[in-house]
Amino acid sequence: MFERALERGRLILALDLKGGDLLRRGEEILGLLHEYLVGVKLNLHLIIPLGLDELKELNRLSRELGLFSVADLKLNDVGSTNSVAVERLWEAGFDAVIVNPIAGFEDGLDVVVERAHEAGKGVIGLAYMSHKGAREFYEADVGGKKLYRLFLERARDWGLDGVVVGAARLGVIREAKGMGLTVFSPGAITQGGDPLKAVEAGADFIIIGRAILNSRDPKEEARRISSQLAGT
Ligand code: XMP
Repeated sequence: MFERALERGRLILALDLKGGDLLRRGEEILGLLHEYLVGVKLNLHLIIPLGLDELKELNRLSRELGLFSVADLKLNDVGSTNSVAVERLWEAGFDAVIVNPIAGFEDGLDVVVERAHEAGKGVIGLAYMSHKGAREFYEADVGGKKLYRLFLERARDWGLDGVVVGAARLGVIREAKGMGLTVFSPGAITQGGDPLKAVEAGADFIIIGRAILNSRDPKEEARRISSQLAGT
């Protein structure tokens, strides 16, 4: 479901704002940067403080600007709760949701995938997170296989629309790509990952927040990164 976006670019903005009028600032930033982006990812920074109406407004603007919008909730609950969450997310205008595969499929994520695909929405599974501590469990041996490999296999078998693999985990990105999965990579620049290397390893989309938002000139930084990625 992300093929069309990929024709236009690879950069997704993590719109992780803190303080002030979040809706107004979010709208301003999208207006400023949209030409360098293909999507926007909203995390708890905005999903908690903004209500449904404000999220709708922000997602409506994203759509008008040609950006898809991902809810980064790392959803991880029983199916009945997950289904309420995704109904709200679709109502708020999100195009996709990130889920944590540790919830399992039956009575967990099955309903998310089913409801999402009925509604033309996407489900993206964590496969290997970007922070240092991710090694502790994603590399764990589970019945002779590393946990992240099980997550990659499940993403394929459950029909997920993509996986999240930290930008510095180049070997894992290669494995995911080799399995035909669409790869979303956060953790670039601020957390040490190199966006260009991640794309060369097979990442389809690079998710960047602070390196753009906290830079002295966010527009120039977004332009620089997106043009660097466009050459790949
Ligand atoms: P920065 O500022 O580090 O922002 O460029 C990255 C954004 O992505 C989130 N993040 C992740 N989300 N799996 C996810 O689903 C991950 O492995 C992961 N690593 C970072 C982070 O919370 C922020 O919104």
